[in-house]
Amino acid sequence: MILSIESSCDDSAIAITDIKTKKLIFHKKISQELEHSVYGGVVPELAARLHAEALPNILAECEPYFKKLKAVAVTSTPGLAVTLVEGVTMAKAIAVALELPLIGVNHLVGHIYSLFIDKPTQFPLTVLLVSGGHTQVMQVKSLTDIETVAKSMDDSFGESFDKVAKMMGLGYPGGPLIEKLAKNGDRKKFNFTIPLSQSPLIAFSYSGLKNAVRLAIEKTSEEDYKDIAASFEHIASAHLTQKLKKYFKTTAPKTFAIVGGASANLYLRSQVEELLKPHNAKLLLSELKWCSDNAAMIGRVAVEMYEKNLFSAIDELSSSPRSKL
Ligand code: KG4
Ligand code: ZN
Repeated sequence: MILSIESSCDDSAIAITDIKTKKLIFHKKISQELEHSVYGGVVPELAARLHAEALPNILAECEPYFKKLKAVAVTSTPGLAVTLVEGVTMAKAIAVALELPLIGVNHLVGHIYSLFIDKPTQFPLTVLLVSGGHTQVMQVKSLTDIETVAKSMDDSFGESFDKVAKMMGLGYPGGPLIEKLAKNGDRKKFNFTIPLSQSPLIAFSYSGLKNAVRLAIEKTSEEDYKDIAASFEHIASAHLTQKLKKYFKTTAPKTFAIVGGASANLYLRSQVEELLKPHNAKLLLSELKWCSDNAAMIGRVAVEMYEKNLFSAIDELSSSPRSKL
């Protein structure tokens, strides 16, 4: 079995995955949403302190599996520098104490493998990753053949929901709160501009839309928030589908997946489904519980890395806030 640790942002999680069957044996996650909610976003130092409390408590529950462990895996990149190091340090301590090899996992690859928890992998895939830290399109041929073909130039999709929710004083994380508010809103009421719609670039940008929403909030009253939320959600999703449509003209997908915390958004899912229809492409989605950060997806990648002997020496593995992907 492999023990895997996730601490790249505001979720402390540990999983145990069976190497042979690739089945998830144990998973526990302690989220810090409540603690960060008052600040309207993640406070890195607070997150690090909370990981230092939560991770040892979860690890204690894994003790019955210690004798069966063959490796210890950890998210080593990308994420918040001060929170990544909590998980990496714990993984190194376990590796030394139990004499186990170490596996450093890329969090973005983890999100891709959230599609395959308790399932066999299915490649090639065109993947849209939408999370709090990332908005990017990747061509995935295998574990080690992943190419990023488009990414955000500034804010991410999920982050823009968090910021809009903060402007409305709704709390954190903003994605589910905005989605709920938008349900009863008029998507056409506020005519926000789709970002980069005149640009030939296949890239994303959310800072301009965020500022347009800020101006709308300043000019209106709370009664309009549901319409602002609905119009914002519509344009934020339309930006993704417009760029994807352009990209599909040269590279039509056979199998398409949406992963990451914001892939839970039902409006985005429905818009992407529409977009895929003319291409007869299949849409893969993670189970809702595996969309947001978790250690099961890190364990799923680790099993594949174990089979390919992709280990890291203890003095080589370091956490890095920026990913190569
Ligand atoms: O993948 P994740 O848990 O963490 C990162 O790796 O960033 O994603 C969290 C992000 C947050 O920005 C959150 O607001 C967003 O995903 N999110 C959503 C929804 N649920 C979570 N955004 C839009 N709609 C949702 N339903
Ligand atoms: Zn994530």
